[in-house]
Parts: sequence; structure tokens; C-alpha cells
Amino acid sequence: MSAVKLVNISKQFDESGFAVRGVNIQIKDGELAILVGPSGCGKSTILRMIAGLEEQTGGDVFIGDTCVNNLPPRRRDIAMVFQDYALYPHMSVYENLAFGLKLRHLQRDEIEQRVAEAAAILGIGNLLKRKPSALSGGQRQRVALGRALVRQPQVFLFDEPLSNLDAKLRAQMRTEISRLHNQLGATMIYVTHDQVEAMTMGDRIIVINAGTVQQVDTPLAVYNKPANLFTAGFIGSPSMNFLKGRMAAGSFISDSFEIPFRQLKGETRPEVTLGIRPEQLHLNRPDNALALSAELDVVEQLGSESLLYFNLEHRQWIARVPAGENYRPGQKLEFYLNPADLQLFADAERDYRSIIVETD
Ligand SMILES: Nc1ncnc2c1ncn2[C@@H]1O[C@H](COP(=O)(O)OP(=O)(O)O)[C@@H](O)[C@H]1O
Ligand SMILES: [Mg+2]
Repeated sequence: MSAVKLVNISKQFDESGFAVRGVNIQIKDGELAILVGPSGCGKSTILRMIAGLEEQTGGDVFIGDTCVNNLPPRRRDIAMVFQDYALYPHMSVYENLAFGLKLRHLQRDEIEQRVAEAAAILGIGNLLKRKPSALSGGQRQRVALGRALVRQPQVFLFDEPLSNLDAKLRAQMRTEISRLHNQLGATMIYVTHDQVEAMTMGDRIIVINAGTVQQVDTPLAVYNKPANLFTAGFIGSPSMNFLKGRMAAGSFISDSFEIPFRQLKGETRPEVTLGIRPEQLHLNRPDNALALSAELDVVEQLGSESLLYFNLEHRQWIARVPAGENYRPGQKLEFYLNPADLQLFADAERDYRSIIVETD
């Protein structure tokens, strides 16, 4: 296994600008790192540059201690799993798994052993004689994983491999890939636009937007201390609630609130955004809480909890509260929030920074 290091990697496809810009990432040997970001932010391009399928416009790619800039894909010792499984339809599962190894002229015994091992790990030993057309979506995705496994590469790259599966199967495969990672101790880079996959699977998350890295940290650190407004809004479902306002003399001021922030004494900014997570809006009043009056707009009862939608200063807000009561649209409620849970972001163009922390 090997570490992967990207040093100031950029990609410009055409005159329209950079798809990837100045990306620095270090993935440790044996780590499962998640690249997460919205569609079109450059995730696949980054993976393809690691694999050598796309040449970077600038910067260096290291696998282990080797700079692989000039190595073709087949010499980078990487296996990639894609969203569409791309199995050979006329070959059996066994032949699909063995194909890449035959091309590499491995001995027959070695091939049989590797296929048997991978099939056992993935629980597809009983499917080896079948054609892909006789497999379910989940089984096909397992075969695609198996094709990567038999290669025993330095690094596994996954490009949204579960997007074609239904929700239940996706959740199941998600845990299987995590288990596989624990079992193999392999270096894996997993790309997804799904923040739930990012939160649940990775040792570390690398949040990407518009071709640049926004934040690199453990899932919980990204959730609890988002580095900027983009990460704050992207990670977490339902999304963080936001309120626009300004800072004057260290207080956040919006149409209906004035909240002093101790650590920002005297600070003034024309535009800031206040944020709070849906589960941090409470119906019981804790000590020192701020109160917020709301008229419910939409109610979603999820069984274990309820999502209560309301409008605050022309923005939709969501509170996530324990299920139990029968909430209904039009109902008036008081929500309470702990000032320590508030997050404040500066609104400078493209350079959203988290600026806060404690209130009075
Ligand atoms: N071969 C290409 N030629 C031109 N533009 C491309 C090419 N591949 C990707 N792009 C552009 O680069 C950006 C990043 O694409 P991609 O890496 O596929 O995003 P993601 O995988 O995050 O959805 C997009 O704007 C996309 O249109
Ligand atoms: Mg992609």
C-alpha cells in the first residue's frame, strides 16, 4: 500500500477556466479518504489525474515516494471502480474477474487463487459462472469491486460507485466498503457527492467546491466546525439554517435579532451570515437560551423525529425535534437555541470564513 500526495495540482480543459485549481492533498498509507462536493466541482478530474487517465495542467502527483507525473496509468499500480460497472456482458463473473490478470500474464494458479479470495471477501463465490445480465445491481457492483480487488493495487480509487443503486442497497454497500477497507488496510480514495456517504465512511473528508479544497478534517470536525459557509451548508442534512446580517461593534444584527459576540468586540463587517444546525433548535428552554418565535409552514413526521419548517426573515429554516407530538402547519411555536451553538461566517466573495465563537 502507498500514500498519495497531490502537490498544487491544477487542470484546465479549455479557455473556460480551471476545473481543478491549486489542490494540495495528502492521503496517508492505509487511509480511506473521501472527496466530497457537488456535481461538477472537479472530483472525477482529480481522481483521473491520480490514475493517470487525465494529464494535469500543473502540479505533481506522488504515489508512495514516487512522482508519477510521467508514468502511464498501467504503471501506476492503481485500481479504479466507477459508477457504471462496465462489466463485459459476454463474459462470466469469473472471466470478468480474471480478465485483467490474464492481460498482465499472471500464472493460471495465481489467477485462480486471487479470484477465489476476492469472491470470498465479497460473498460472490456462488455467482462465478453467471453472466452479468443474470445479476442484480448490487451483485454487479460487487463484481466491479472484485475486479479492483484481484489487482491487489497500491491504491484503490472509487468514483461514485454506489450512485446507481437504490437507497437500501447503497447503505448496505457503504458498510461493506468500510468493512473491506478495515479488512485490507488499503489506501482508498472515495469520491461522492453524497454527504451522508462522506460522513459515514471516511477517516477524513476532503470537501471540494469549484475545483478547490474547502476543508480537510474528520467527519465530525467538519460537521461541528465547518471552515466556511460552503462547507457549513453542504455537510449536514437537512442543511444548516442561515440568517444574513451585519456585524456592528461586535454584535450580529439582522432584521429581528441583535446578538453580541464576546470575542468580536468592536468588530464591524457589512455582511455576515449566522448559522445553526436544525437539531440545535430546541422546544424546551435551556439556561441562557435565545428564543425564536415561529409559525410552522410544513411538517414532516419521520417516525423517529419530526422536521418542522418555518420562515425566518424570508429564509426557510428547519428544526429537527423528537417525534411524539402532532405538529401541524400554521401552529405557533417558540424555539430556543444555545448561543454557544451559533456559527458566524464572513461573507467576503468566495472567501467565506468562519469567524466566531462565543457569545456573551
Ligand atoms: N474532458 C473534459 N473537457 C472539458 N471539460 C471537462 C472535461 N471533463 C470535465 N470537465 C469539466 O470539468 C469540471 C469538473 O468535472 P468533474 O471532475 O467531472 O466533476 P465531478 O466529478 O465533481 O462531478 C466540470 O465543469 C466539467 O464540465
Ligand atoms: Mg464525477
